[in-house]
Amino acid sequence: MILENISILSDNYVWFLYDTNNFCIIIDPGLSEPIIEKIKKKKWNPVAILLTHSHSDHTEGVSEIIQNYPSVTIFGPKETRKNSVNRIVSGGEKLFLLNKTVYVLPTPGHTLGHVSYYMKPYFFCGDTLFSGGCGRVYKERYLEMYNSIKLISSFPDNTMLCCSHEYTLSNLSFAKFILPEDNMIKIYYKKIKKLRYLNKSSLPCYIFFEKKINLFLRTDEKILKKFMGLKNSLTDLEVFIQLRLRKNYFIGAKRD
Ligand SMILES: [Fe+2]
Ligand SMILES: [Fe+2]
Repeated sequence: MILENISILSDNYVWFLYDTNNFCIIIDPGLSEPIIEKIKKKKWNPVAILLTHSHSDHTEGVSEIIQNYPSVTIFGPKETRKNSVNRIVSGGEKLFLLNKTVYVLPTPGHTLGHVSYYMKPYFFCGDTLFSGGCGRVYKERYLEMYNSIKLISSFPDNTMLCCSHEYTLSNLSFAKFILPEDNMIKIYYKKIKKLRYLNKSSLPCYIFFEKKINLFLRTDEKILKKFMGLKNSLTDLEVFIQLRLRKNYFIGAKRD
């Protein structure tokens, strides 16, 4: 199984997995043209589209793709039912695609019905977790988002996170602002800055590394409370909420 991505819109990634027989699955097609072009160029036969949530930057390409490839099965949560989904999932299901098991996981918080897909070692987490950060939280659904992120981080360390946006540099600049003395964040920021200058993708990223540089996975660290000026008595969830709120108003905060 081979993983590829293409960059669409301003900062979205569409992910593809394909096998040696050229069967492929597409995750979160937010546009149709570049995807169809890629499929034709690679001579792939698409068998399934997996949708993580209902936002248009993840779903807009579906209708035109299925006009070209009508036999494709579309999986998605209930909130995506308007996007020609023919297999509604809510998390907990096991799918069998490209001769592999795909686990559907409930990851609400960014939207109420957001799901993720795990096909060892790849984890398609949509807009839930990003490298160095996490997605925006829908209304006050912080507890759901916090639990979703905890669930993702409980997967094996060598799991590769295939996030839906290239937000890494901006997330790290926020992390640097919060923890200016964290060497790992400083070094990784420099590395990603170079990479992005060369127009290269910072994804996928490994869970074990995210646990070191992603502050949203480090809410149990005393140093975070200290640098954020928070009381020691605050719970991990309360630290998570404070961190997310500050990120919302940070310069250059991203849409998702
Ligand atoms: Fe989204
Ligand atoms: Fe998005």
